[in-house]
Amino acid sequence: MDQSTIVCRCEEINIDEIETAIKMGAETFDDIKRLTRCGMGPCQAKVCMNLVRQLIYDYAGKPLSDIPPARLRMPLKVTRMETLASNDSPSSSSSVISVFNESASNQGGDIREK
Ligand code: FES
Repeated sequence: MDQSTIVCRCEEINIDEIETAIKMGAETFDDIKRLTRCGMGPCQAKVCMNLVRQLIYDYAGKPLSDIPPARLRMPLKVTRMETLASNDSPSSSSSVISVFNESASNQGGDIREK
């Protein structure tokens, strides 16, 4: 692998950029994520996380067991694509309102009533 080899396909981050982040003091995947955007793509680090952890091990000599995996953030609430794609409430002005309505109806109420 040369320095231009892509590690994070989603954000097009290569080995050289990861190495630069490690030289700047990055010790974890999340450190590298903050410095390079590596792991912020559509796959949310499913493809690149272990490659980056391996690079931290290779360049910094830190044992893999001491390199935590990426901190993952779950969606707050399951939202139907139908709700995101449409604005089915005639009184609402955006699909965000529709998502709020769906969340409220799942909890037994309409947030606009509060
Ligand atoms: S490959 Fe890195 S976020 Fe998808």
